[in-house]
Amino acid sequence: MSLPAKLLHIDASVLGDHSVSRQVSAAIVARLTAAKPGLRVTYRDLAAEPLAHFSGVHAAALQGRAPPHAELDGQAALDDFLAADIVVIGAPMYNFTLPTQLKAWIDRLLIAGKTFRYGPNGVEGLAAGKRVIVAISRGNFYGPGAPAAAAEHLESYLRTVFGFIGVTDLEFVIAEGIAVSPEHRERAITSALGAAEALEPALRAA
Ligand SMILES: Cc1cc2nc3c(=O)[nH]c(=O)nc-3n(C[C@H](O)[C@H](O)[C@H](O)COP(=O)(O)O)c2cc1C
Repeated sequence: MSLPAKLLHIDASVLGDHSVSRQVSAAIVARLTAAKPGLRVTYRDLAAEPLAHFSGVHAAALQGRAPPHAELDGQAALDDFLAADIVVIGAPMYNFTLPTQLKAWIDRLLIAGKTFRYGPNGVEGLAAGKRVIVAISRGNFYGPGAPAAAAEHLESYLRTVFGFIGVTDLEFVIAEGIAVSPEHRERAITSALGAAEALEPALRAA
C-alpha cells in the first residue's frame, strides 16, 4: 500500500487576517485537499513561529563543528520540505522581495547533499518531482511591460531558488495591484481565487 501524499503549506505574511497571500494560499490548499481527501497537510506559519536568521551557529552545526541541536528548527523545516510531494507557499512582496521570515526558511532548504549537489556537470537539483505552487501578493503591477517590472525580485528570486534545487516548473497564482485601489484589490483577489479553484489537482507538475 502506498503512503498518503503529503502537502506542506507555508505562510509568511505579517498581516494576519488582512493578508491576501494567506487567503490565496489557503484557497490553493482547499482546492487540492478537496480533490484528494487523503492528502496529509503540514502547516507552518513563519510569521507566528519564525525561524531564527541563519547564523554562524547554524552554519557550524551543518558543517559538523557544533552540536546538531543548534540547528533543530532548521532540520525540521528541511525534513518537512523533503517529505512533501506538494508545497504551497504564501509569498507577500515586501520592499520588492520576500519577507525575511520566508528567506530564513529558504536558508534552511538550500543544503548541499540534501536539495542540490555539485557534480562533474555543475549543480544538480535534487528536489525535482515536487510540485511547488506559490501564492504571490503584491501592491503594484510587475507583469511584462509594466513600468515597475524591473523592480520585481520576489517571483524572479523564487524561480531562481527553486530552479536551483530542481523545481523548474514552479507554479504561481498572483494577486497584484493590491495597493492601487480597493477596486483593484477586490478584482485581484477574485481573479487569484478563481485561478486557485482552477488548479489541476495532480500531485506532480504536468
Ligand atoms: C512592509 C510592506 C512593504 C511592501 N512593499 C511593497 C513593494 O515593495 N512593492 C509592492 O508592490 N507592494 C508592496 N507592499 C504591498 C504588499 O505587497 C501587498 O499589501 C500584499 O498584499 C502583501 O501580501 P499580504 O497581504 O499577504 O501580506 C508592501 C506592504 C508592506 C506591508
